[in-house]
Amino acid sequence: MQGAAREELRPQIDEEVLRKVAEIAGRWKGRPDMLIPVLHEVQEVAGNGIPKEVAKTVSEAMGVPLAQIYSVQTFYSFFSKEPRGKILIRLCKTAPCHIKGTKRILEAFERALGIQAGETTEDGLFTLETCECIGACDVSPAALVDDTVYGHLTEEKVVELVQALRERADLDGGA
Ligand code: FES
Repeated sequence: MQGAAREELRPQIDEEVLRKVAEIAGRWKGRPDMLIPVLHEVQEVAGNGIPKEVAKTVSEAMGVPLAQIYSVQTFYSFFSKEPRGKILIRLCKTAPCHIKGTKRILEAFERALGIQAGETTEDGLFTLETCECIGACDVSPAALVDDTVYGHLTEEKVVELVQALRERADLDGGA
């Protein structure tokens, strides 16, 4: 019952980003068949996610109902409703990986990052998600870190991986 009154949620997305989103989506006005490619492009511009303000902008610019965008987001886990962290960790939970211990590996990621699956670290560095098969069943249990596959994961490897990713991010940030 509270949902309808929550239209004006967190203005996290700045004007410049919304302007770019409107520009991208506006190129495909009246072309609902282009919604998925547009959402891919928009998601990158908006910081790895499609929160409500961005979805509304896409809806208006393309002339596609907001409900259609939400249903695409719900169907394809690739499109997040929240801004994601700089580094996206997606752990496969499909049967072959599950059998090899996805649950243990997920808990190891959660401990190492201090968040639960579906959450982003407070510093905005990591988002942890589970996903369906990533095509790396031969090295299960496996995860995708951005576009890179990490296989044969163990709890120890998870600790090392998170540490290495943090160090790399520190270097990239000039810290
Ligand atoms: Fe996990 Fe295919 S089942 S990568």
